[in-house]
Amino acid sequence: MKQSAVSLVFLLLLFLPLSSENVIVNGTRGAPWLWPCQHTFTEPFQPNDSFIYWQSLNNTVLHAYVNGKEESKHQNQLFKNKTKIFPDQLPFGNFSLVIDPLTLNDNTSLEVIFVEEMNPKRLCPVTVYVAVPFQEPKIEINQKEMTATCSTKGGYPEPRVIWKSRDHLQGHERTLEPHEVRTIVISVEGKTYRISSTVSITGSSKVTCAVYNPTSNQTLSTTKDVTPPSGVRFHPAAVVVLFILALIVCFSVVLFLCYRSED
Ligand SMILES: *[C@@H]1O[C@H](CO)[C@@H](O)[C@H](O)[C@H]1NC(C)=O
Ligand SMILES: *[C@@H]1O[C@H](CO)[C@@H](O)[C@H](O)[C@H]1NC(C)=O
Ligand SMILES: *[C@@H]1O[C@H](CO)[C@@H](O)[C@H](O)[C@H]1NC(C)=O
Ligand SMILES: *[C@@H]1O[C@H](CO)[C@@H](O)[C@H](O)[C@H]1NC(C)=O
Ligand SMILES: *[C@@H]1O[C@H](CO)[C@@H](O)[C@H](O)[C@H]1NC(C)=O
Ligand SMILES: *[C@@H]1O[C@H](CO)[C@@H](O)[C@H](O)[C@H]1NC(C)=O
Ligand SMILES: *[C@@H]1O[C@H](CO)[C@@H](O)[C@H](O)[C@H]1NC(C)=O
Repeated sequence: MKQSAVSLVFLLLLFLPLSSENVIVNGTRGAPWLWPCQHTFTEPFQPNDSFIYWQSLNNTVLHAYVNGKEESKHQNQLFKNKTKIFPDQLPFGNFSLVIDPLTLNDNTSLEVIFVEEMNPKRLCPVTVYVAVPFQEPKIEINQKEMTATCSTKGGYPEPRVIWKSRDHLQGHERTLEPHEVRTIVISVEGKTYRISSTVSITGSSKVTCAVYNPTSNQTLSTTKDVTPPSGVRFHPAAVVVLFILALIVCFSVVLFLCYRSED
């Protein structure tokens, strides 16, 4: 009896307008995420005559409250022990739900279905964007090719990579143009991203690579000196010449000292 009532209600829902604008909320994988939902009752809350379903637009039930109590039977397996409501707050219209921990699978659109005396309402529509923070980017300098390569992985969604370069002579810093940057993006199992971005270091003394995650609104950046620690680099031929010069100087000094001691 109750089951068929629920099915009927869900059929009706297809024709119901949403009560409010879709809200976008961004969360971070692994952290708890609160879906805020405040409903204003037109009549006092009757727990025993109410159904509340927290569900995704594809009808996966995250959490259910049926006839006065939380009902795990209707809950999707993926959300067992992962969701929490505030039962004592329901009479005040607080239909907020916590997902803990948030996963990449939760990157979807959700809504609350509230059925009161066979009268269904669609509440609190939300689209969740899940961010996964990237690992600290690393820069490797290739002195032979005169390039710097910045790499990081494990993040979501696809990041933006921004390079800055400090000029060798004037010492001022500028942001590199897209055409000066070659970025390879690899999607790992369609979930997280691995990136590798390469720029030329000719004429620069310092490079900075910034990886921006648009969903977490977070930037990770790394800076590296381009010039080798010794400062000036010698041509191999120059090294040989200097070595011979040094030998001659040593010889002269030794000879000079020998002459002096003979005196
Ligand atoms: C609902 O109650 C919880 C727990 O007290 C609180 O954190 C949350 O902000 C409340 N949500 C709304 C929409 O009032
Ligand atoms: C709701 O149902 C419970 C038991 O199913 C009962 O004890 C309670 O009195 C009912 N509440 C109302 C307001 O009818
Ligand atoms: C949920 O938690 C309960 C008790 O803590 C446990 O018995 C049950 O196996 C858990 N279910 C899942 C799917 O992890
Ligand atoms: C439906 O939504 C759930 C919850 O967000 C998600 O885990 C599942 O992958 C989705 N299923 C389909 C077929 O899109
Ligand atoms: C997350 O949601 C956005 C927008 O709904 C979609 O473009 C993207 O493909 C989703 N990502 C995953 C991993 O499902
Ligand atoms: C949430 O994520 C979306 C998609 O990546 C982004 O466009 C938006 O700016 C983010 N919002 C905030 C507040 O960071
Ligand atoms: C992203 O963060 C910066 C501060 O780091 C802030 O000024 C900006 O408003 C944020 N953008 C969004 C979309 O939330």
